[in-house]
Amino acid sequence: METQVWFAPGRANLMGEHTDYNEGFVLPFALAQGVTATATARDDGLLVLRSKQVPDETVTVNPGSLAPGSVTGWAAYPAGVAWALGAAGLAVRGASVDVDSNLPAGAGVSSSAALECAVALALCSLSGISVPRTALAALAKQAENEFVGAPTGIIDQSAALLCQQGHAMLLDCQTLETTQVPLRPAAAGISILVIDTRVTHALVSGEYAARRAECEAAALALGVPSLGPLARTDPDAALAGRLADPVLRRRARHVVTDGARAMAIAGALQDTGDGRSGDETWRAIGSLLTEGHASLRDDFEVSWREADVTVEAAIAAGGYGAKMIGGGFGGSVLALVPADREGEIRAVLTETYLSRGWLPPEFLDAVPSPAGRRLS
Ligand code: GLA
Repeated sequence: METQVWFAPGRANLMGEHTDYNEGFVLPFALAQGVTATATARDDGLLVLRSKQVPDETVTVNPGSLAPGSVTGWAAYPAGVAWALGAAGLAVRGASVDVDSNLPAGAGVSSSAALECAVALALCSLSGISVPRTALAALAKQAENEFVGAPTGIIDQSAALLCQQGHAMLLDCQTLETTQVPLRPAAAGISILVIDTRVTHALVSGEYAARRAECEAAALALGVPSLGPLARTDPDAALAGRLADPVLRRRARHVVTDGARAMAIAGALQDTGDGRSGDETWRAIGSLLTEGHASLRDDFEVSWREADVTVEAAIAAGGYGAKMIGGGFGGSVLALVPADREGEIRAVLTETYLSRGWLPPEFLDAVPSPAGRRLS
């Protein structure tokens, strides 16, 4: 029986958090780390799922009789993908799928979407199904929303399937238009460090859904279909000032200004061209990152103590700027640091954590990498 190995990456997001489900702007890049799906066709029509991270469990399902709620835990993500493909009228053949990940789970680097997308690519290929990548991202998102039950947006699956090596991707979540902008920090002596704060989050938890509902309420009160597109027309979030409710006003301001920052960073990166532009450009990008963090902390209120301390300590130790990434309430911080200070900054952060009695942070080198692909 034929075996194929597929890979899909995690992502880090330079800017635009909680803007995706508001039809706004995001600027992720794909990581080198991700999920591998080794899939072998089966003649009995069954889907047999195993994960290296959960070694004692084998989950066997019949793709034709899947329904939301019928599979829980990690296997809900790959099973959900088979379900979404089936719901779109695409016949998924039986397969044994073994997954393995080198992404920390719950760390804000999109391990769920990497799992969905690696399995989606493998199942489509084994089944002879051809789906354009933008549509496949939408199906993987549907799996997460409807099968797993997490009301997330489209950034993670889009990053896993559409990003390009050496680039960040500006995605307009309303039109799904993408613009690849060069992101080659190493050529300018800069490192992007992803710092796992070791506080894990769960997106199915209520806060994410609560923020989503507040954004919808703010849009309704402003008389617009969604907040995100205002980043283009009202980058200073002046409209948000019309909201009487102070909480909704802050939420709207975050969504609009974060989208504007995503576009501003994309513009600055375009200028870096070959990656060798001046240090001021990178410093300016760093300042925007830190502004984004303040907005997530104060206006959107999704940051957490370890992230705030990490951002402050990274900057105090010579970083150009830093922000939390992902949905919040746990996960990772992204910092832009001069490469020659990286070792020192790592040491300072570890010391800072240990002196507070926290678990030491873990560091991921964040190298802008290609989207999902076949390995063999
Ligand atoms: C999670 C979700 C994404 C996005 C981010 C916040 O990662 O999966 O859709 O909303 O949070 O930017």
